[in-house]
Amino acid sequence: MAADDAGLRSVQLPDIRRRARQGRRLALARACDARPGLRVHDALAGWGTDGLVLAALGCRVHLSERNARVHEILDARLRTESGRLLGERPDAISWAHEDARDRWRAGDQFDVVYLDPMFGEHPKTALPAKQMQVLAKLAGEMTNGKVVALIDEARRVAAARVVVKRRASAETLGQPDWHIRARSVRFDVYLPVPRCRA
Ligand SMILES: C[S@@+](CC[C@H](N)C(=O)[O-])C[C@H]1O[C@@H](n2cnc3c(N)ncnc32)[C@H](O)[C@@H]1O
Repeated sequence: MAADDAGLRSVQLPDIRRRARQGRRLALARACDARPGLRVHDALAGWGTDGLVLAALGCRVHLSERNARVHEILDARLRTESGRLLGERPDAISWAHEDARDRWRAGDQFDVVYLDPMFGEHPKTALPAKQMQVLAKLAGEMTNGKVVALIDEARRVAAARVVVKRRASAETLGQPDWHIRARSVRFDVYLPVPRCRA
């Protein structure tokens, strides 16, 4: 499947620009406290839509995607669209085919870790339904237990916060410190857990 088969290139950039123009009115921006220079790890990249919005808001974003087919499509998309979106800030975005946890364990530093896990019934906001269905088929779903384990590990890495996107009506995972509600999704925000010093 090529990137165009998933309908990724034609409709997304104007939508990403439109979202970024909302600035702090955008729930994603408030949840991540998006601002120029903030180091964000979009650890579950998928098609990269949320990561592109955060980069357009001025953040420095690294995207990790572990599924080879999804990464191939993401790579084709970002090669084309990141330059068009970010112009003179090409260094604002980077991406890799990797498990996000390997990057944490390698010691990379991020202010915010952003997690948008794949659930059986996904919120309608980030992507049109067809694109999310393709993604679900390729990448599979995540159990709550796996998401909780990721949150726990991410809280030991993020300097400022971990943000988890959930369906608006979904149960809470662990104990978020606060949440930001949008129309059909909720962003649960977790503060970092201090690392033990030797
Ligand atoms: C729901 S999608 C993310 C959608 C994304 N927010 C967007 O805007 O396109 C979740 C993605 O996370 C990926 N994933 C799951 N576990 C991962 C891990 N440990 N490291 C990196 N990617 C992972 C899956 O392959 C899937 O593509």
